Amino acid sequence: MASLLITGGAGFIGSHTLLVLLDAGHELVVLDNFANSSPIALDRVLELASLDAAGRLHRVEGDVRSAADLDRAFTAPAAPITGVVHFAGRKAVRESVENPLLYWDVNLGGTRALAEAMGRHGCDLVVFSSTATVYGEPDVFPLTESMPTPPVHPYAQTKLAAEQMLAALVQSQGWRVASLRYFNPVGAHPSGRIGEDPTGIPNNLFPYITQVAAGRLELLRVFGDDYPTRDGSGERDYIHVMDLAEAHAVTLDHLLQQQGPTQITLNLGTGEARSVLEVVQAFEQANGIPIPYEVLPRRAGDVPKLEASPESAAQVLGWRARRTLEEMCRDGWAWQHSNPNGYR
Ligand code: NAD
Ligand code: UD1
Repeated sequence: MASLLITGGAGFIGSHTLLVLLDAGHELVVLDNFANSSPIALDRVLELASLDAAGRLHRVEGDVRSAADLDRAFTAPAAPITGVVHFAGRKAVRESVENPLLYWDVNLGGTRALAEAMGRHGCDLVVFSSTATVYGEPDVFPLTESMPTPPVHPYAQTKLAAEQMLAALVQSQGWRVASLRYFNPVGAHPSGRIGEDPTGIPNNLFPYITQVAAGRLELLRVFGDDYPTRDGSGERDYIHVMDLAEAHAVTLDHLLQQQGPTQITLNLGTGEARSVLEVVQAFEQANGIPIPYEVLPRRAGDVPKLEASPESAAQVLGWRARRTLEEMCRDGWAWQHSNPNGYR
């Protein structure tokens, strides 16, 4: 079993991954400044995890850009940290357009500070949270990892730059690096105890739908029905967050087995895009709750479609997403229904 640092471990994807890694027996340090999460998420993870997990989870409140905070995290467990999963970052496209320096600072500067701390502490293995938005505005599907990546906003630019910085450390220092390009992570742990907790009115489709179902919002606004897609609404490759969490555990196992320089860049998606209207229908069927909607013009910055080729992940890791859209809808609703105000 390994001793691992999880930056951003209290966040949406981080908390689900934490649970999977604790149940696999690893010792974990979470470094999070709770800029977009709650420490309660960590308590909930421990509620769900095996009984001995509390003794294997160290919490460090701090900023991934701070050398001192990183040093505290690296020295929290008795055993040296042999690998990092780097979730900490900011992820809102519009915010990145309005405040690009914040994104270069946290997403790239944070990754650089982390890499320096890894060097200080003799750690050369990192799994990095990248995104499908690095593919810009593609029109050939499914997307494979070698396709050109002209990112069109600061969020994607900072993620691609961080991928490149880490790849350079594979070349120069012999590091073991996995950049995982997530498509659209949704759903929640089936217990309904942990989930996505956006503040304010959600931007993203799934949390918006669950809040309409809960009666907190009146109508879903479908952004555009004139895309060149099956039914005119936008298509995305939605992936259950528990599938994503399991993919991180498999990626860590793979990297830990490598002896020399290793660099892998993998899409994490199902390979099957779904339209907004298909998601609405699936949610209604899975939960028996109607989702009233109106069609509005396209949202600025949206692409018509994103769809992963999941084949590289299957070949390299022997991993495929296995949960259905119905499970994404059911589990996402279980979380919203039992936690109407998230962790607050
Ligand atoms: P999230 O906001 O829920 O989690 C990010 C975590 O990082 C939060 O707990 C936050 O408090 C923490 N954090 C932010 N800035 C920090 C800092 N400076 N120092 C320490 N901690 C900090 O987001 P998520 O959905 O769990 O995403 C995790 C990662 O995956 C992010 O890097 C994101 O860019 C990437 N990603 C997310 C999606 C998605 O749709 N959710 C898609 C592609 C990629
Ligand atoms: C968005 C971000 C992406 C980020 C991801 C998770 C943009 C352009 N992209 O992805 O970088 O990684 O969130 O934070 O912001 N939709 C509606 N009504 C709504 C909300 C969404 O019709 O109220 C539609 C969108 O037009 C899109 C689909 O639903 O077709 C998915 O949208 P969303 O959940 O916001 O994800 P992305 O835009 O793919």
